[in-house]
Amino acid sequence: MNILVTGGLGFIGSHTVVELIENSHTVVIVDNLINSKIEVLSHLETLVKQSIPFYQIDLTDEEALTQVFEENKFDGIIHFAGLKSVGESVEKPIEYYLNNLVSTMVVIKLAQEFSVGKFVFSSSATVYGDQDSPLRETLDLKETTSPYGETKTMGERILKDIAKINPKLAISILRYFNPVGAHPSGLIGENPNGIPNNLMPYITKVAKGDLKQLDIFGDDYDTIDGTGVRDYIHVVDLAKGHVAALELVESGVHTYNLGSGKGTSVLEIIIIFQKVNSVKIPYKIVRRRSGDIATCFADVTKVNDELGWKTTLTIEDMCRDMWNFEMKFDNSTRVL
Ligand SMILES: NC(=O)c1ccc[n+]([C@@H]2O[C@H](COP(=O)([O-])OP(=O)(O)OC[C@H]3O[C@@H](n4cnc5c(N)ncnc54)[C@H](O)[C@@H]3O)[C@@H](O)[C@H]2O)c1
Repeated sequence: MNILVTGGLGFIGSHTVVELIENSHTVVIVDNLINSKIEVLSHLETLVKQSIPFYQIDLTDEEALTQVFEENKFDGIIHFAGLKSVGESVEKPIEYYLNNLVSTMVVIKLAQEFSVGKFVFSSSATVYGDQDSPLRETLDLKETTSPYGETKTMGERILKDIAKINPKLAISILRYFNPVGAHPSGLIGENPNGIPNNLMPYITKVAKGDLKQLDIFGDDYDTIDGTGVRDYIHVVDLAKGHVAALELVESGVHTYNLGSGKGTSVLEIIIIFQKVNSVKIPYKIVRRRSGDIATCFADVTKVNDELGWKTTLTIEDMCRDMWNFEMKFDNSTRVL
């Protein structure tokens, strides 16, 4: 299949491009580089040993995107592009609603106009709000804690309405848990701008000495060791989930959790990261952060049964690959 990958130079998009090409699909990337760098393209091309068509376009620019659809015939679209910082979205709600919702509407509108058969949407576990784990796809969605989260809930709603008038379209809504890790080659990975918000990128910066220590927000939760428990998924496993959805979902809207189905605590992650990479992670326990929940992990029965997909990579793999990527490029040559 010929696949349009929006946001294909970003963290998850770039890893999915590799998996798509390794599974004999062809790919066209559209990205405006708002949160990625053009160097990722050459790293991708090195990895897959072929050139990849790329358009630097903002998806909210319908005219420019229409031209991409006129120049290419797509069988499917994987729509990753969007702004993704929960904290920033609270500060800049309009930017988030505009970018994420208008992008999604323009892409799905053109998908219909150009009769594209398959559409895969990046959603998030955040749409479940504060509910008890394991989280199942059948749960009612609760209000999320941020404009970012609301763009995912609304994006899902828009796609469900489209499906009602276009029942042949195969729509996969994929709710990611906590994507981490990097490609084992060390050529692509994630390097967030500024101080990372998420645990694993933060740990990596502390291990490197860029940040002094890790603050652990609370050790009095009702969990195995009192620290927060989350469902971490290696980005390569996550990327493979997209290929499975694209190839297997036929028509209608299908929603799947992409997670490991297991929770890991902050302290467990630190211990494994230190051991696998022979580094030290200085940390301090501080007060709970408002809005954080004790435990969040996926029920992955549906995606296992219907797509035959499950994670194969371990927390050890995630820690090793993140560190490998961090070590391979110093900050001046980082690609993400
Ligand atoms: N990484 C996570 O923890 C996580 C978790 C759940 C869901 N998601 C969702 O998965 C998707 C991919 O996440 P990621 O971690 O790869 O993010 P990322 O920021 O690394 O990649 C997103 C890409 O989209 C591009 N982009 C953003 N707005 C655009 C626009 N208007 N036009 C064209 N390109 C645009 C950015 O430049 C970037 O390259 C996002 O929709 C995100 O919300 C991510």
